[in-house]
Amino acid sequence: MKKKILVTCALPYVNNVPHIGNIAGSHLPSDIFARFCRLAGYETVFIGGSDEHGTPIEVSAEKAGVTPKELCDKYYEIHKGIYDWLDISYDNFSRTSLPEHHKTTQEFFKKIYENGYISEGVLKLPYCEKDKRILPDRYVEGVCPKCGYENARGDQCERCSTLLNPDELNEPRCAICGTRPVFRKVKHLFLNLDKLEPQLREWIKSKEKLWSSQVVNMAMGWMGEGLKPRCITRDIKWGVKIPLKGYEDKVFYVWFDAPIGYISSTKEWAKKIGKPEEWRRFWQEDDSFIFHFIGKDNIPFHTIFWPGMLLACGEYTLPYRVAGLQYLNYEGDKISKSKGWGVFCENLPKAGLSSDIWRFYLTLLIPETNDTEWKWKEFQERVNKELVGNLGNFIYRTFSFIQRNFESKVPEGELEDKDEKVIDLGKEYAEVISDLIWDIHLRDGLRKVLELSDRGNKYFQANEPWKAVKENRKKAATTLHVCANLCYDLAVLLSPYLPKSSHEICRQLNVELGDMRSIGRRINAGHKINEPKPLFPKLGDRDIEDLKKVTSQVSELDKLFEEVDYQYFSRLDLRTAKIIKAERIKNSDLVKIKVDVGGREKQLIAGIGKHYTPEELNGKSIVIVNNMKPRIIKGIKSEAMLLAAVTPKKISLITTDSEIESGSKVE
Ligand code: MF3
Ligand code: ZN
Repeated sequence: MKKKILVTCALPYVNNVPHIGNIAGSHLPSDIFARFCRLAGYETVFIGGSDEHGTPIEVSAEKAGVTPKELCDKYYEIHKGIYDWLDISYDNFSRTSLPEHHKTTQEFFKKIYENGYISEGVLKLPYCEKDKRILPDRYVEGVCPKCGYENARGDQCERCSTLLNPDELNEPRCAICGTRPVFRKVKHLFLNLDKLEPQLREWIKSKEKLWSSQVVNMAMGWMGEGLKPRCITRDIKWGVKIPLKGYEDKVFYVWFDAPIGYISSTKEWAKKIGKPEEWRRFWQEDDSFIFHFIGKDNIPFHTIFWPGMLLACGEYTLPYRVAGLQYLNYEGDKISKSKGWGVFCENLPKAGLSSDIWRFYLTLLIPETNDTEWKWKEFQERVNKELVGNLGNFIYRTFSFIQRNFESKVPEGELEDKDEKVIDLGKEYAEVISDLIWDIHLRDGLRKVLELSDRGNKYFQANEPWKAVKENRKKAATTLHVCANLCYDLAVLLSPYLPKSSHEICRQLNVELGDMRSIGRRINAGHKINEPKPLFPKLGDRDIEDLKKVTSQVSELDKLFEEVDYQYFSRLDLRTAKIIKAERIKNSDLVKIKVDVGGREKQLIAGIGKHYTPEELNGKSIVIVNNMKPRIIKGIKSEAMLLAAVTPKKISLITTDSEIESGSKVE
């Protein structure tokens, strides 16, 4: 029987435009894997969608001054456009705001509830008296009780990935205004992970050999301390409503509804293909293989929380593999949109290169075991050496030789042992590459494809058909017969990675692209080929400079909601201020600065310690935002913000051009 495979990619929050890190860290690996499964002849469904609930969306919408729905509508289209452009072959890319998803989530919950895995509890929740609201997870920040990180969020510590409840944070503060919240008692619902612990432990144990050690360790580490019931409801309006009396004003926690999105998206897919029950074959039969591709910060949710939900519900198949990927950095630093540091996907179409070229280098950078790093120099070298010099060269020289010397017809030749060995390399490599990809060693799989092409080149070179064609035409014919067949095999093996190029090879070769089983002596003597064309462009230094410029732009898309009118601008009270005293905060890059603003003294904290010594700062006339909501940074109050020009490497303070009294309005 055919294997049944469901591949999912973590549902992205749609509150910004994705960058290359998001692509290499989940969409591309899951796509390569799904394409491979189809090629191998497995029954495959590749599912994705947008994660539209939760505080990340609410916070962004609030900042942009639009409703969460408006925000998601806009970014959903942008995300989808980018994945399409990059040939991410989702069978369905859904949205968690759709009615089907809300219904599926509520039914899922009811089942867990009936099965006795939900309990009611009272939470002491942070309430901000200034903003007059309960502060759900991300709206409260504080010190991580586990690792001491200062800016841990109420749901998870970004540094050590520990999942948290807001009341576990030390020194909690409101993320909006910085004041210390008071705690109020509020009724909430909990998933009894404690009751599920033995089953979960056993399940993770059974995966020990299959999963990467990174994923197993993270899951086990989190288990180690024993599981506690986890709150699955929130006091906000945007989200999936709770079908239980007394909970009308709450919604589900985003991490409760989001993974259920995998199921609702599969349901939507089934409807689209006209077989509405088909989703069950992937989610409700135990012979299906479910693969989740996710970033490392999502590991605890996919190895404990989500399987816990599935076990409690009892109606669905548990994941087979959880592929947790690390992060992609950019030229020695973290990718940062605000600093314009990275390659931002909305720019890729206008950069003028085929999506395959980006896919190629990004595949080599898939952070399978470690964080990886984008380097333009390496991008240029790899493209020129591997794509142009190796693969492109082999295909082009083979096709053009056939065109010039054999009237565009694949010649027959007479295969000797050594030629037989080479013509069968395709099959040999297909097996190795299949095993690698099935094990999620995607980068090694591509390396093997390139190695096969390299062997093709060496064979061509060693047989010198350009000489043979004059002296021993039969020999030249043999060489080209073998090479033409290898070109086809390469097209097939390349197709999960570089789908466009794979089709282009087949177009030039004048054959249909088949699946894995079509590999090996597919091209017969006498087969007529099309006009050959080089596959990849060589990249010069100037090209790289241009590409760098175009792709690092932070486009208008991300600023769309941020257009401001004068009235909006005038709400900022910008003033000149004179620095009276600056002092470095120990063990940090922060500087505590006392300023005089027209006779009033204010204190602010600025992260400029790497760029200015306190002595250099004293006496300077700078510009500040005078009406900032006070914030607490490292336990110290900051009442204003200074303005500076910022690049990834430099910070330069905004000062006044001539003497002017402190406290003057800046407009
Ligand atoms: N939106 C989450 C993130 O970007 C991932 C959600 S994955 C799912 O971190 F399982 F919840 F769908
Ligand atoms: Zn921590």
